[in-house]
Amino acid sequence: MTHTLQGREVRLRPGEIIVSKTDPRGRVTYVNDTLVRVSGFTEAEMLGQPHNVVRHPQMPRAVFGYLWTELLAGREVFGYLANATRDGGFYWVFAHVTPTRAPDGSIRGFHSTRRAPQQAGIDVFHPLYRRVLEAEQRAGGSAREQLAAGEAALAAELAARATTFDALVWSSTAAEGAAA
Ligand SMILES: Cc1cc2nc3c(=O)[nH]c(=O)nc-3n(C[C@H](O)[C@H](O)[C@H](O)COP(=O)(O)O)c2cc1C
Repeated sequence: MTHTLQGREVRLRPGEIIVSKTDPRGRVTYVNDTLVRVSGFTEAEMLGQPHNVVRHPQMPRAVFGYLWTELLAGREVFGYLANATRDGGFYWVFAHVTPTRAPDGSIRGFHSTRRAPQQAGIDVFHPLYRRVLEAEQRAGGSAREQLAAGEAALAAELAARATTFDALVWSSTAAEGAAA
């Protein structure tokens, strides 16, 4: 088990925003130029694909379990994520993912914006994700069994801090301009 993410790290420039949109099933319907440049995937390689095309293999399943539980319940999610680049590198982002709704209130897709993360947030979430990933790998078995083990590990980590995923995201993120 490595203790850092493998591959070359790409950093977003301050102020840059990565945008993507999906249909209700999570298939990519839009990517902006910044996602193309940072990820190294072409627009054609991403459009129509499941959004896990940019998934980093060292990200725990439980984080995406949480993401989809919230999204399908109609709630937005903020979080620190590491994504993979086409050439096997990675980049950390601070992501916001939200359902988009039709006028009748039904979910017609999902929309995500991501910007350069604060190091303080990576310092909290990188080791946390590593421990959750280790729990998933120890569990072995099917994807479902690994997800269950990861969800239990994530819940235990949050309970030990008497916090929630969202509260931990925000307590790890200094207000803009307030960082030391
Ligand atoms: C709008 C939107 C944006 C997403 N952005 C990412 C992302 O940047 N990186 C990522 O790994 N998964 C992202 N996902 C989650 C993926 O759909 C997927 O659940 C995840 O990559 C895990 O892959 P898996 O479900 O095949 O294990 C996003 C989903 C949506 C709806």
